[in-house]
Amino acid sequence: MDTPTGRKPWTVPMLAEAKRGGRRMAMLTAYDAGFARAMDRAGIDLVLVGDSLGMVVQGRDSTLPVTVDDIAYHTACVSRGLSSALLLSDLPFQADATPARALDAATRFLQAGAAMAKLEGAGHKLEVIRYLVEREVPVCAHLGLTPQSVLRFGGFKVQGRDDAAASRLHEEARAVQDAGASLLVLEGVPSALAAGITAALDIPTIGIGAGPRCDGQVLVLHDLLGLDSGHRRPKFVKDFLGEGGSVEGAFRAFAEAVRNGSFPDAAHSYE
Ligand code: KIV
Repeated sequence: MDTPTGRKPWTVPMLAEAKRGGRRMAMLTAYDAGFARAMDRAGIDLVLVGDSLGMVVQGRDSTLPVTVDDIAYHTACVSRGLSSALLLSDLPFQADATPARALDAATRFLQAGAAMAKLEGAGHKLEVIRYLVEREVPVCAHLGLTPQSVLRFGGFKVQGRDDAAASRLHEEARAVQDAGASLLVLEGVPSALAAGITAALDIPTIGIGAGPRCDGQVLVLHDLLGLDSGHRRPKFVKDFLGEGGSVEGAFRAFAEAVRNGSFPDAAHSYE
């Protein structure tokens, strides 16, 4: 293998193979080439240029002010640091309001080095997912505590707690898969619900605050390093810097804990 990491570069079809083979995936957010390079060396499988950058890099209260230009800039930076990990980029607030807008933004991200575009929600987003996938843009869906819905939710609150909300999430998960999504991020939902959705789908799920039985886990870089981003720290956040001993060690410790199933434990999950 002639990548600097010596590992085979991830491709979109490998996501489904990983699920079929029971290989858990470790994903982190990154916003620049230096951290991305360290993640690549540490064996992180998937790297996301998340619109969380609005909160952890730009110091804002929500992800809503993040622009397509912001994500395109950080995607180009992160891409230069990766040789093996698969790069995903977030469609920021309203960049996916119409299929045409989403295609314009996603095209910029793919041209900057991303392999997939991620978008939040189902509903009218199903049409957007279909439109992108038909035009060769692989899509990662994102359901549950979708941060771009913070105004409707009235805060960053765990979703899917009652039976009606749980069955709605099940239906949405099935619908994004049927629309053509290749991956699904489940955020801020009870562990049992995420486990049920994961078992019901052919596409892999990546959890964040969604319990241990997803097909992979994602954390925001700053949370994993224990940095105070000025926001309330959610229950699922774990600082891996202490046990890892260095930044790259923290990434390795996270990847190992995801693969051996020790993260997240009950203390970092919602019942
Ligand atoms: O924006 C982001 O970083 C995300 C992850 C938390 C999944 O969407």
